[in-house]
Amino acid sequence: MTKIQQLMKRGSEILGSKYAIMGGAMTWVSESNLVAALANNGVFGVLASGAMNGDLLKNEIEATQSKTSHNFGVNIIVMNPALQDLIDVCGEHKVSHVVLAGGLPDKATIDKIHSYGIQVMAFAPTLAIARRLFKQGIDALILEGSEAGGHVGTLSTMILIQDILLNLKEYPIFVAGGILRGEIIASLLQLGAVGCQLGTVFACCRESQMHPECKKAYFKANGRNAVVPVQLDKKFQIAPVRALENRATDEFVERQREVLRKFENGEVELVNGKLSLEHFWAGALRRAVQEGDVDRGSLMSGQIVEIIREERSIEEIVNTILSEAEEFLSKL
Ligand SMILES: Cc1cc2nc3c(=O)[nH]c(=O)nc-3n(C[C@H](O)[C@H](O)[C@H](O)COP(=O)(O)O)c2cc1C
Repeated sequence: MTKIQQLMKRGSEILGSKYAIMGGAMTWVSESNLVAALANNGVFGVLASGAMNGDLLKNEIEATQSKTSHNFGVNIIVMNPALQDLIDVCGEHKVSHVVLAGGLPDKATIDKIHSYGIQVMAFAPTLAIARRLFKQGIDALILEGSEAGGHVGTLSTMILIQDILLNLKEYPIFVAGGILRGEIIASLLQLGAVGCQLGTVFACCRESQMHPECKKAYFKANGRNAVVPVQLDKKFQIAPVRALENRATDEFVERQREVLRKFENGEVELVNGKLSLEHFWAGALRRAVQEGDVDRGSLMSGQIVEIIREERSIEEIVNTILSEAEEFLSKL
C-alpha cells in the first residue's frame, strides 16, 4: 500500500470507495453520468437532488445505479419541502450515504436517515455546531471553506481547519473548498482529515455533462472572477453564492434590490423573499449548465478555477493527485 493510500484508508472505509476523495454534489451538474463515472474511478460521487421531488430523485438514483455498482451518496437540501420523501427514496434504494446541506438538520432527520441504515454527513460553519452535529449522531462532517463554489459560508478553509479539524481530531472530517493538488490533500490527511471533497474541478472534467461553452468559460476565468455578490441590507440576509462574474451576478443584485423593496413594503414575507432568490440561482444555474448561457446563466465556481485550465478525465485528475501526493510524502 502506498503512503497516500495508507493516509486515505480511514476515509475510504467510511465512504466505501477506493479513494478518500469526494466529488461534491453540484446542482444540475452532479447527475447520474458524472456520479457514476466518479464512482467507477474510485471517487465517492454525490448526486445533487437540489429542488427535486421524490420521483425525480428516484429516477436519478436508478439511472446512477444502472451505470455503477459502487457506492455513491445523495445530497439533500434540508429546506426542500420534499425532505421526508427524498429520505424515503434513498432508503428504498439502499443509498449508502446522505449528505445534508443548505441548513442545519435536526435530530429527527438524522435519526430517520439512520433508521434506513444510511450514514449521515453534514456541513458545519463553526466548532460549536460541529460538536452539536456529532452529538446528534452524524457519522462524518464536511468542512467547506468560502473559497468553494456554490453556496458558501463566511470562513475560509484555512480558518475552519484550525478552528474545527484540529479541535475535533477524534471525529471523521472531510475538508472542501479550494482543494486540488495532491500535496494539499496529503497534508490535510496528515493533519487528521479523513479525506477531501472537490467540486469545481469535477464540474469541468471530461465526464461532466456541463455545456461545453460553460467549460470554456471556466478554463478562461481567473480565481478573482469567482465572486460572491454583495448583500444589500443586513436585515435581509442572503445565502452567499460564489460564481463567475457575468450578467447573472449583476442581475442577482438587481433581483435582491427588488425583493428587498417588496419586503420593506410588506408585499413579501422574509422567507418567501429569500426563496425567490434561491430560485433565481437554481434557474440561472440550469441555464448555464444545460443551455450553455454563459452570460445570463450562473457559473457557480470556486476560486480554484484559477488553476483549472483544461478539460481532463476523472482518471487523469485522480492520477495526478495521487502522484503529487506520493512524491510529496516520499520527500518528508
Ligand atoms: C456548480 C456548483 C454547484 C454546487 N451545488 C451544490 C449543491 O447542490 N449542494 C452542495 O452541498 N454543494 C454544492 N456545491 C459545492 C460542492 O459540492 C463542493 O463542496 C465545492 O465545490 C468544493 O469546493 P471547490 O469548488 O473549491 O472544489 C456546488 C458547487 C459548484 C461549483
